Amino acid sequence: MINNVKLYLNCKDTEVVNIANVGDLKAQGDVSVSFKGKDIFIPFALPGEEIAFEPDGKGRGKITKIITPSPFRTQPICKYYTRCGGCKFQHMETKAYLAFKKEVLAKTLLQRGIGGDINDVIAIPAHTRRRATFNSVTAGSSHWFGFNAPKSGNVVTIDSCPLLTPKLEAFIPALKKQCFGITGDVAVTVAEGGFDVLITAKKYPEFSFLERLGEFAYTNNVARVAWRAAEGDEPEKLAEITQPMIEIGTKSLNLPMAAFLQASKEAQKVLADLVVKEVSADNPLRIADLFCGIGSFTIPLKDTFPDASIVGYDSFAPSVNVLNRIVPAKVQDLFRHPLSHEELDKFDVVVLDPPRAGALEQVKQIALSKPKKVVYVSCNPASFARDACELINSGYKMEKVTPVDQFVFSPHLEIVACFIKN
Ligand SMILES: C[S@@+](CC[C@H](N)C(=O)[O-])C[C@H]1O[C@@H](n2cnc3c(N)ncnc32)[C@H](O)[C@@H]1O
Repeated sequence: MINNVKLYLNCKDTEVVNIANVGDLKAQGDVSVSFKGKDIFIPFALPGEEIAFEPDGKGRGKITKIITPSPFRTQPICKYYTRCGGCKFQHMETKAYLAFKKEVLAKTLLQRGIGGDINDVIAIPAHTRRRATFNSVTAGSSHWFGFNAPKSGNVVTIDSCPLLTPKLEAFIPALKKQCFGITGDVAVTVAEGGFDVLITAKKYPEFSFLERLGEFAYTNNVARVAWRAAEGDEPEKLAEITQPMIEIGTKSLNLPMAAFLQASKEAQKVLADLVVKEVSADNPLRIADLFCGIGSFTIPLKDTFPDASIVGYDSFAPSVNVLNRIVPAKVQDLFRHPLSHEELDKFDVVVLDPPRAGALEQVKQIALSKPKKVVYVSCNPASFARDACELINSGYKMEKVTPVDQFVFSPHLEIVACFIKN
């Protein structure tokens, strides 16, 4: 990776001032430069470039001109790029982008003193996201529908997004029209049977929204529309044409409202294949799948090891109830009531895939337990590194780590790592 961005300040009188002490590309996609004794963060620049920029006086800067582009600069695939806040790395050539993500992971692990091998990042292509959460803001006769602008609550209205599956992308204009009147989040999942739409908005949808709903649903292949006032509330069904279904491994399952689902089918398969591969080396008999959700890993594990005894655990009861029809699964809050090390001793392998915060209390119990193998799937390198330390300090050895780029062009990264008890 090329170091040091060489920067100039583009002044009104066209004077060009050289700036020293320029930093590298940061994990969030900005470069940092030292300007008048302070660090300024500038998005969409690349190491090795000469750019003119304008400081905003609040610690951030905006490129006004790219004087010498990096050889790693490429044409973004989206017409809203830089105005919409969803993507940070579309301007970066794929190889350099994936190498950068691997480097960020390596640095995050090293900050915790963890070395070791990291596989190349497995890239999930664009046009594959089957779920997205749009922002809808209505004020009088004005309506904004799309994603938030960078570092802002302002919504950039869009009519396309190349990250989404073609089906979901083509649905945006009709969804936008239907959501006039809504101020809140509109989450959509492409399911078997049609789109599953969940609105999170303080205000219950107005009569005019409900009046239009039937025709909207029938003409746009919408399976279900639900509403809730806030995240965590139980959604209320507004319309259900058919039950949305999701395929996992060999099974087709009812998708509960507000259930977690991996953002793309492709990533779900890649992650599940990695988990199964890590588990399979030892042909285990007893597997605990912690934070199992609807069973993205539990079901492929059961498909691969039909004789194994597998138990899933998750706090979201609707997902657990659906999974429990196929594989035993239990509702348990693993943050407040982690499985104890005595309970974990009954398993040969522990698989865990916690939310972004990681699972420190649960991992502390795993660290005291006897399972030979732990397969940790994470969507946050920082919490993963913290939890990995607990396992390593208690005698688990971390094998090669595999990063998966599910959230393409964003700073997020999924990780699959296997730990073996020494
Ligand atoms: C990253 S998702 C993984 C789900 C599943 N492994 C999959 O790939 O579909 C994290 C899961 O953790 C669950 N979860 C969140 N907080 C939890 C808690 N305190 N205790 C147990 N499960 C929790 C969520 O319901 C969600 O299903």
